[in-house]
Amino acid sequence: MSARVPIGIVMNGVTGRMGYRQHLVRSLLAIREAGGLPLHDGSKLWPELVLVGRSEAKLRDVASRHGLTDYTTDLGAALARPDVQIYFDAQVTSEREKAIGLAIEAGKHIYTEKPLATTLSGAIELARAADTAGVKHGVVQDKLFLPGLRKLQRLISGGFFGRILSVRGEFGYWVFEGDWQAAQRPSWNYRAADGGGIVVDMFPHWHYVLEQLFSPVRTVTAHVTTHIPRRWDEQGDAYEATADDAAYGIFELEGGVVAQINSSWAVRVNRDELVEFQVDGTEGSAVAGLRGCRIQHRSTTPKPVWNPDLPLTERFRDQWQEVPDNEEFDNGFKAQWEMFLRHVAEDAPYTWDLWAGARGVQLAELGLQSAREGRRLEVPELDR
Ligand SMILES: NC(=O)c1ccc[n+]([C@@H]2O[C@H](COP(=O)([O-])OP(=O)(O)OC[C@H]3O[C@@H](n4cnc5c(N)ncnc54)[C@H](O)[C@@H]3O)[C@@H](O)[C@H]2O)c1
Repeated sequence: MSARVPIGIVMNGVTGRMGYRQHLVRSLLAIREAGGLPLHDGSKLWPELVLVGRSEAKLRDVASRHGLTDYTTDLGAALARPDVQIYFDAQVTSEREKAIGLAIEAGKHIYTEKPLATTLSGAIELARAADTAGVKHGVVQDKLFLPGLRKLQRLISGGFFGRILSVRGEFGYWVFEGDWQAAQRPSWNYRAADGGGIVVDMFPHWHYVLEQLFSPVRTVTAHVTTHIPRRWDEQGDAYEATADDAAYGIFELEGGVVAQINSSWAVRVNRDELVEFQVDGTEGSAVAGLRGCRIQHRSTTPKPVWNPDLPLTERFRDQWQEVPDNEEFDNGFKAQWEMFLRHVAEDAPYTWDLWAGARGVQLAELGLQSAREGRRLEVPELDR
């Protein structure tokens, strides 16, 4: 059996939706179930998990469900442990900055959910502090690892599109108000004071999708609104939804590509997937979702003629071709964890650092400002 190399990871916010399902169960426990993460020298990296949270009872419950024993409500004590190398944060966004600051001070490598912080200045401060401390750092950019977007990346790398003209994104679904059917997302997402809001939540995602697949975002114009002003929380109590629940954004990318992305918790799905991006290029177009990706080449593009007096003669959606999988796609969160762990353990290259996270927060902040002021804003380079 190959040697097991332990790596201590503090997981904060592990009782939450993302912390539990995607990061603990689907990523780190899945790596353990596979016998550890294989490294170049033939050894296996073995995540030793320290669960951190506010409720001892909830932590005990999570731990016992998975045969884990190491948990604490004392973040300071967990960060003081010499056998811990990485701090991971999946708490509510509003708690993140303080905790990551402490972890950097304790000399731990940082891996975190997005958004990195609630303000750009806070995000920059963390990125600078992490650089100064010489720790490694990364932020979750899970959408890049979705099968649909991996196929889109393949099309771009293979030169399918010719010159890319535009990107059109549709994201969202109906989030129930919580009165007659329970809401399917936590209520803090709809309260501004608790770090909620669809712009803060989704623009960081759109930022890395646009930047990594296409090119850097140079301007933003956004219209932001709260369509549903009153919702009901986990206890069934009514509250005022103070955060935005829909954002209609236009992003100009370097090189002239225009991206438009609608994000909404107040829309009913009439698409194949919960998020879809249509990319139009001179040589062809594609529509990529979470898993699937369909293409239409210029040579097979139909020639519709506008005549509302006649019934449709062609089924436009049938004229697209499915991009094959050609590979097995692992869970995106796990795939990114593996890259970050290799970055820490054997210095493997890693792109998505806290500066990338800060650029995501910057786009959210500028999006909100654009909406408030009713104007288009440039996205400046961050000053390191
Ligand atoms: N990458 C993605 O696709 C994705 C998707 C959803 C959420 N997220 C991010 O993950 C983070 C957690 O979101 P979630 O949906 O799992 O939320 P959640 O409400 O399910 O979990 C929040 C966690 O934070 C903890 N917490 C710490 N301090 C808290 C406080 N003062 N109030 C409430 N909870 C507190 C909770 O105990 C819980 O463990 C957010 O920052 C969110 O932006 C990322």
